Amino acid sequence: MSTLVTGIAELVTNDGAVGNGTLGLVADAAIVVEDGVVAWVGPAHAAPDADTRIDVGGRAVIPGFVDSHAHLVFAGDRAAEFEARMSGQRYDGGGIASTVAATRAASDETLRERLRALVTEMRAQGTTTVEVKSGYGLTVDDEARALRLAAEATPETTFLGAHVVPAEYSGRVDDYVGLVTGPMLAACAPHARWIDVFCEPASAHAFDGDATRTVLEAGRAAGLELRVHANQLSAGPGVRLAVELGAASADHCTHLTDADVDALAGGSTVATLLPGVEFSTRSPYPDARRLLAAGVTVALATDCNPGSCFTSSMAFCVALAVREMAMTPAEALWAATAGGAAALRRSDVGHLRPGARADLAVLDAPSYRHLAYRPGVPLVRTLELPTTEALSGP
Ligand code: NIG
Ligand code: FE
Repeated sequence: MSTLVTGIAELVTNDGAVGNGTLGLVADAAIVVEDGVVAWVGPAHAAPDADTRIDVGGRAVIPGFVDSHAHLVFAGDRAAEFEARMSGQRYDGGGIASTVAATRAASDETLRERLRALVTEMRAQGTTTVEVKSGYGLTVDDEARALRLAAEATPETTFLGAHVVPAEYSGRVDDYVGLVTGPMLAACAPHARWIDVFCEPASAHAFDGDATRTVLEAGRAAGLELRVHANQLSAGPGVRLAVELGAASADHCTHLTDADVDALAGGSTVATLLPGVEFSTRSPYPDARRLLAAGVTVALATDCNPGSCFTSSMAFCVALAVREMAMTPAEALWAATAGGAAALRRSDVGHLRPGARADLAVLDAPSYRHLAYRPGVPLVRTLELPTTEALSGP
């Protein structure tokens, strides 16, 4: 079953061999999708025939956003903490404890409904791949439950038992690390692709370099791939550890030394920037230009979570990256699509060359530039394609 998508004023393929520049732009384009996979891309006048046809009416089409960092399994919210921050209170991760308490107390159904609602909200805004972390359970059962629920929504599930040290382990970090690397990892690894640690010696609640190394090495021995919350609040050891251990991504990268930038430039770890966090914690933004100048692969993600940044909008993050981090609209869109795919080590998403998953997002605008040019306007949505079932009917 094939579908021809026409009326594409500007197509972003992210493949310089298919179109112009890094974004692989094709003007007046068409795409043929077959059984959920891109089968043909090119100028509309050369398009082959297909079983059905969708005309998007002169709009831009981009690869669906790849949101490679989100925390979507939680209960409650922290609007009051946000309000206090906007009056000058600093973010240090201490508020995570209140989400942990609310999440532990919630039923599976409550958590599932919240997760589904957030994924639906993301999809409606053009996000077609999302990573989901645990990290608000922090007991063996609550972490395993979070990951079982996350796996219902995405294959990109991340075990974040080392998010913060929970209250019942206060002053006993080593004991908690033993729990995380022992019974908790054993219960969680079957439901997770990734393992992550909030490496932040400057926070009284998170983990130092030694604990981070211990958790990541245990995760790797259990078959998980690595990613790290690194250098969010201070220039700690997180980024260099991520590169040394071959993590797919170091996330936040807000406070970097020259040695951190050199390490990223010399390794294969993606720097995932989360500018919604700096917006929502009123903090200085990461220096994206410094990373790009050094040749580091940069991704953009939302970090959607109830504490440091409660946005589900990748378009908002693209607009922030352009306005606040001096990324060009093209760099920001690439980072939010192909960059996110690199951060998740996925070759089937983040681009639209033949063979890609048919994850298409459409803008109510003629060019991708409008994503940053029209901030806050709901321009982008996932293009829902007809399926065989939808066509064949009951
Ligand atoms: O990525 N930094 C640690 N974790 C999240 C925040 C979680 C929270 O505040 O609830 C982050 O910013
Ligand atoms: Fe996070």
